[in-house]
Amino acid sequence: MGIQAEEHGIRPWWESAVIYQIYPRSFQDSDGDGIGDLDGIRCRLDYVQKLGVDAIWLSPIFPSPMADFGYDVSDYCGIEPMFGDLASFDALLADIHARGLKLLLDFVPNHSSTLHPWFVESRSSRDNPKRDWYIWRDPAPGDGPPNNWTSDMGGAAWEFDALTGQYYLHTFLKEQADLNWRNPDVRAAMLDVLRFWFGRGIDGFRIDVLWHCIKAQGLPDNPPNPDYRPGMGEKFLVLQTNSADQPEIHDIAHAFRQIADQYGERLLVGEIVLPLPKLMTYYGTPDRPGVQLPFNFLLLDAPWNAHSLARIIADYEAALPHGGWPNWVLGSHDAPRIAGKLGEAQARVAAMLLLTLRGTPTLYQGDELGIGRVTIPPGRERDPQDLRQPGLGLGRDGGRTPMPWDDSAHAGFSATEPWLPLNDDWLVRNVAVQTQDARSMLSLYRALLALRREYRALSVGDIRVLSSDTDVLVYERGHESERILVALNLCEQPRSFALPEDFAGAHRLLSTLDSPSLPGTLAPNEGVILRLENM
Ligand code: NOJ
Ligand code: MG
Repeated sequence: MGIQAEEHGIRPWWESAVIYQIYPRSFQDSDGDGIGDLDGIRCRLDYVQKLGVDAIWLSPIFPSPMADFGYDVSDYCGIEPMFGDLASFDALLADIHARGLKLLLDFVPNHSSTLHPWFVESRSSRDNPKRDWYIWRDPAPGDGPPNNWTSDMGGAAWEFDALTGQYYLHTFLKEQADLNWRNPDVRAAMLDVLRFWFGRGIDGFRIDVLWHCIKAQGLPDNPPNPDYRPGMGEKFLVLQTNSADQPEIHDIAHAFRQIADQYGERLLVGEIVLPLPKLMTYYGTPDRPGVQLPFNFLLLDAPWNAHSLARIIADYEAALPHGGWPNWVLGSHDAPRIAGKLGEAQARVAAMLLLTLRGTPTLYQGDELGIGRVTIPPGRERDPQDLRQPGLGLGRDGGRTPMPWDDSAHAGFSATEPWLPLNDDWLVRNVAVQTQDARSMLSLYRALLALRREYRALSVGDIRVLSSDTDVLVYERGHESERILVALNLCEQPRSFALPEDFAGAHRLLSTLDSPSLPGTLAPNEGVILRLENM
């Protein structure tokens, strides 16, 4: 959307929105099985609304054998019984909409569960009509896998199936078989899935591993990765040159977009992990648009200092195609907790960064409580990525632990022992405690989200990075006559920074700390938001 659209008030809802990711297994259990569910989410909507976010993205809630906790779908148009049913889904959606919130579901087009009826048929014989819905190949001469592709979860990306004497491709677990996106019937069936959920009223999708969906014709070997070092995980043995990011993916993304657009202002967020220039191609082109928000994961691996953050912002902004709307991610169910990486004080600065950058932020459940590193006791690991490649530190369980709501049994998450342990400090780090404490991480998130709502400069304004010297990142946001300055101290010492002259008497809207500081100075790990009053 350009300036003109904004002036006419037709900026799409998702440009000024904040997305809140809920990991359904770990949000709220309502039926006492230790696993979160839809009725649980429904009874916590008050919390979500008061937090001040605009849209909820739910990780997969479809029927699934749970080999990869829902990312192995066995029916794209149903609800996993452990989470609820279509009636509880409709009730949840209605309540979400009644509160003025939006709902995004998680679409997993690259692969289905091997227990999906399509795969069960496909596997049954070489001449089954669904054989070609998946990617089957004869063994290579000498009986090995058809090529050298490795699975993102470790080992070969191929599984031999003795029944028909062929291998099938699985980019992730062997329980997650890759669909064949070169087959028109697969495309048609998957587009129907989008229609099914849009028809039920959802507001958009997050699309799982979008860049993986289509593979190079003939499935040639991938080149070896010269930077591979043992311990990185076998996924990095080869470069994914032929197994991902093929030109034809953009036809698929465009087909998804065409469907979405038929239902009004519907949002597609693409999960894509690629270098910036490649990532940007997923916006598509004006005549063949792709997804509106290709996820920007730059903050997840950023060296945490003012220079590198300034560079990331500048590079990302410069790479955006004309009309492409930015977005930022600070955490997810796949990443280590931000507060675990940076410590709580700097995680407050990170929160301020996430919610004052230009673009749609995605906030991951639990980060608003500052949950840090959680120890998963031996024997309680659940993540297949960890269990398949133990000892490499690839486990994602630590970022998936249940929401701690209060200090009652099991933190109010469940009436029974949860599927993963709680954060070690749940008795003091929970929603109830933090709601009472004006200085808590939760109160900071609420204040930041409220400011985003109040000031268009923060939600949709321009951004200008002013400086990144002396460990302080300073940028300005502006919209019409509204001007806001953000200064973030990325280090543990007090710092001063060059306060632009016109901001000298500016009003301090918010600090990550209580400490009053002089203009142009910041306490250790302090971030501030200043507003020019006289405009
Ligand atoms: C990305 C998802 O976020 C992750 O959790 C999952 O394991 C893979 N895609 C495979 O679906
Ligand atoms: Mg439950």
